[in-house]
Amino acid sequence: MKIAVLPGDGIGPEVTREAVRVIEALDLGIAMDEALVGGCAYKAKGHPLPAETLDLARASDAILFGAVGDPDCDALERHLRPEQAILGLRKELTLFANLRPAKVFAGLESHSALRPEVAGAIDLLIVRELNGDVYFGEKGFRQNAKGEREGYDIMSYSESEVRRIAHVAFRAAMGRGKRLCSVDKANVLETSQLWRDVIVEVAKDYPQVELEHMYVDNAAMQLVRAPGKFDVVVTGNLFGDILSDQASMCVGSIGLLASASLGERQTAHGTFGLYEPIHGSAPDIAGKGLANPMATILSAAMLLRHSLGLAQAADRIEAAVAAVLADGVLGGDLGGTAGTAEIGDAVLAKL
Ligand code: NAI
Ligand code: MG
Repeated sequence: MKIAVLPGDGIGPEVTREAVRVIEALDLGIAMDEALVGGCAYKAKGHPLPAETLDLARASDAILFGAVGDPDCDALERHLRPEQAILGLRKELTLFANLRPAKVFAGLESHSALRPEVAGAIDLLIVRELNGDVYFGEKGFRQNAKGEREGYDIMSYSESEVRRIAHVAFRAAMGRGKRLCSVDKANVLETSQLWRDVIVEVAKDYPQVELEHMYVDNAAMQLVRAPGKFDVVVTGNLFGDILSDQASMCVGSIGLLASASLGERQTAHGTFGLYEPIHGSAPDIAGKGLANPMATILSAAMLLRHSLGLAQAADRIEAAVAAVLADGVLGGDLGGTAGTAEIGDAVLAKL
């Protein structure tokens, strides 16, 4: 079993170090190789996603990713910016399914932007399509009939693109509460009509899953009004981008939220994927040992579960994280004083 470790920029290396310590402590016989990605890769190699980094990623069972983003690179052309590295990895490796679990840890209900009793009921998984939609359609500027400048971005989804994400979502629902909410805008968008048609077709393969369709505007409302009603939510790239950030803030701190980006490639033990905290490189606190590593440690747990078939080890890590949080060992993002290494030590002690 081999993991490519791509720490990246800013707090990326700090939080990744703690996740690596946790994996090592479990003594699972996993090889971990590191490579440069993002601004540090641009500075050392002239490109944010060097060929050797992509090669290492391809030769591994999974990728543990920190964060990219470096203020020194702000003036660079778009294709050389650090953030292009994560987009490039998702596209090059066909990682089309972004899984973002959102759950409130016991004792942290009051850290949500929602009332504690509403927040406490949240236990949902957003499955966001990552390789299609308006982000990857034809785009540009043109002149309209009135001679005005006009910007356009074509939104499209093919049946196969929807089908593959639908299967991921239905399978996820089978492993959880067996309820799936498909979010679209089928009342106005043809893309959404096709999305809905395919979801309904795929649903026939999963008769045990209770399927519901919801318009995205209503979904945004329901996520705040009654988030506890959701189990698995599946949606396209644009709607998922917005709803998953919204869901994360319903839970509380950005320093606690993990994610997995999966494709179809199977490894010897599971599905190849990239795992990262949802936060960025946080240049404001980088190098100070203040970053909360929990999101990355929880991403490592997802990696062990989905890519390496080590569900028990993943459960152990998640239980240790929950126990540390219940003890009140909190980082600055949660109003506490514990530093990055101190939080890592506390998780190791629980393990
Ligand atoms: P950010 O997530 O890096 O930071 C937002 C705020 O949250 C900051 O105040 C930061 O200090 C705090 N924060 C983030 N993670 C934390 C942690 N683990 N512990 C404690 N506090 C934490 O987002 P921002 O500032 O918008 O972006 C900074 C850079 O990161 C930009 O270059 C951006 O493009 C990049 N970025 C990269 C992502 C990725 O690598 N996947 C995702 C999001 C942003
Ligand atoms: Mg976003």
